[in-house]
Amino acid sequence: MTQATAIIVGASSLLSREIAKQLADEGVELALLAQDPQSLIEFSQSLPTKVQVFPLQIDEPDAIISTMNAVWLSLGGAHLVLVNTGLTHYDPELPWQPEQDIITVNVQGFSAICNTAFRLFRDQGYGQLAAINSIAGLRGGPSVAYHASKAYAQNYFEGLSMHAQRLKMPITITDIQLGMLDKAAMQQNRLWLSPLPVVASQIIKAMKTGKRKAYVTKRWRLVAWLTKGLPEFVYNTRHWKTKAQKKAERAAKKESK
Ligand SMILES: NC(=O)c1ccc[n+]([C@@H]2O[C@H](COP(=O)([O-])OP(=O)(O)OC[C@H]3O[C@@H](n4cnc5c(N)ncnc54)[C@H](OP(=O)(O)O)[C@@H]3O)[C@@H](O)[C@H]2O)c1
Repeated sequence: MTQATAIIVGASSLLSREIAKQLADEGVELALLAQDPQSLIEFSQSLPTKVQVFPLQIDEPDAIISTMNAVWLSLGGAHLVLVNTGLTHYDPELPWQPEQDIITVNVQGFSAICNTAFRLFRDQGYGQLAAINSIAGLRGGPSVAYHASKAYAQNYFEGLSMHAQRLKMPITITDIQLGMLDKAAMQQNRLWLSPLPVVASQIIKAMKTGKRKAYVTKRWRLVAWLTKGLPEFVYNTRHWKTKAQKKAERAAKKESK
């Protein structure tokens, strides 16, 4: 296979589109998988290389496996499979349904995609499997199932990497640990938020250099390092009291004297 080819799973997000655009600009032929393939037709036609679009039914592992096999046949194999599917939700009441949906997409769907991609690469003899995960997986957090699912994904990739080494096969497993960009955007925090093209180009660079794990953007490595090292009573900021709470406590103490 001389033409560079890549499959992007979960291609409808803005980040996936930016990565697709940058890869296509470099001449990579693409297959894009999305829940609603129709929504990607116009975008795919705007790219400078051959791009095919396929439906992704992530809650049906059998459908994922047969779609991946069909895409593989259609492309004649691939150099790269990039998984960028993900679901998150926060509700302090912790209803079950959103947790179940997160587990279906981020654990079951993720595993079916990566397991199939790995076996296809094994039969092909080479390739790179990459996923956009999150530093949220380093510790538990308020979106309970989301944090846990990202820890699962990280662990799953470590296992696949070990498996590739055991098979002595040139299959690269790249775990992209994305910083909490949504949170930074919500807080309008310019230090921790980077423009999408920069995020996409750092992801592509990490994949090109065959990194096993990369933090994107790079400065989130520091947050990851701190997050891993903090004792739980410091990490869990919900223990912390706001200035107003401290002031009220002091005032109450004074009054009681
Ligand atoms: N955005 C952030 O701040 C951030 C931070 C850290 C890590 N991450 C991780 O990076 C990855 C992508 O993030 P993003 O910001 O690009 O996320 P996004 O905009 O929420 O996109 C997630 C992708 O997953 C797909 N998806 C979700 N539920 C699906 C379902 N039931 N069936 C099929 N596809 C489904 C979406 O497809 P549809 O649009 O078709 O639903 C979309 O393409 C995720 O793994 C996320 O956890 C994101």
